[in-house]
Amino acid sequence: MSKFSDYNFAGQRALIRVDFNVPLDKQTLEIKDDTRMKAAIPTIKKILNDGGSVILMSHLGRPKEGPEDKFSLKHLVNHLSELLDGKPIQFADDCIGEDAQQKAAALKPGDVLLLENLRFYKQEEKGDEAFAEKLSKLGNVYVNDAFGTAHRAHASTAVIAKFFPKDKRMFGLLMESEVASAQKVLHSAEKPFVAIIGGAKVSDKILILENLLEKADDIIIGGGMAYTFFKAEGGKIGASLCEEDRLDTAKEIMAKAAEKNACIHLPSDSIIADKFANDADISSSVSTDIPDGWMGLDIGSMACDMFTKVILKAKTILWNGPIGVFEMECFQHGTKTIAEAVAKATENGAFSLVGGGDSVAAVNQFGFADKVSYVSTGGGAMLEFFEGKTLPGIAAINE
Ligand code: 3PG
Ligand code: MG
Repeated sequence: MSKFSDYNFAGQRALIRVDFNVPLDKQTLEIKDDTRMKAAIPTIKKILNDGGSVILMSHLGRPKEGPEDKFSLKHLVNHLSELLDGKPIQFADDCIGEDAQQKAAALKPGDVLLLENLRFYKQEEKGDEAFAEKLSKLGNVYVNDAFGTAHRAHASTAVIAKFFPKDKRMFGLLMESEVASAQKVLHSAEKPFVAIIGGAKVSDKILILENLLEKADDIIIGGGMAYTFFKAEGGKIGASLCEEDRLDTAKEIMAKAAEKNACIHLPSDSIIADKFANDADISSSVSTDIPDGWMGLDIGSMACDMFTKVILKAKTILWNGPIGVFEMECFQHGTKTIAEAVAKATENGAFSLVGGGDSVAAVNQFGFADKVSYVSTGGGAMLEFFEGKTLPGIAAINE
């Protein structure tokens, strides 16, 4: 593969796989969060500045059967133009076929063409060879900048690479920086390394927890998944979230942690509510003695203090998953406290990486995005990277 920054794109038609899978408002179809689009701009600009042209391909959402207006990438055209300083964006309403081919072939240096949603073809997700080959014909250099989709072995993310000679396929700047920061945390973390893992379900986080037991000094567990751990240890968790079929898994994780000398921190107290709503009756409780009918929706003040102490001594921090139901004002204090502590530790010299849709939304909402070292555009991709898996989108370029 070639190194992106050393490559001169003058006169080249660069086919870039981006992850423009951004959330759209259901009614207005306006973009609710353009982080992923902004993140791809430096790659696009470098190619245009070199005197190359750009063909952008992406998926959007999970269309089931062919084209659907609400998943059309045409809704991104105007905003993409704004992000590229008003540059006009051409749009092909199909990602393969004659129109796309003609528009791609006619591109002049400095032009940008956006293709319609790749997932309007089932062949994309199936990793179909013929489909990948058709896409590959649109450009003469392939750039993969879609870190958010790197865990999918799809036609445009993985299969397509082999249709380009080795020196004509490469990672874009976003992919390079994502991989560099994830590798830094996974393979050369300065100690103490503190991982903060939240979210609703233990089942989603088993593999990352198991892999982190080998690497992290401290693992802070928050969010709904913490209550499965408390229940597994014989605690009384009231109506809190619990995955009954994961109680043994939780026990095993605790046992392995003891073996590996990794310290797992569970929130000793909780903010509890009598229903899952902002207008619920709210109280606080020890997390192992929650009254019947009440549920833990955030960590309590003792846990906030305890977690803050652990985070402040860290030199490396990985944060994936929210600590409480931060979307509701009454239960956002814990997640906000964690965000503050991570920002403070970063200011003191720690390297902090935040990833996973919800935790990224939280740092954005609380205004801490520029106070952490790196905010990943990857949700599932970031998770799988830290589970120790090889991501197909990365492997295909390296092969
Ligand atoms: C994501 O948002 O997780 C990526 O864009 C991949 O999308 P997917 O989960 O629908 O494959
Ligand atoms: Mg996903």
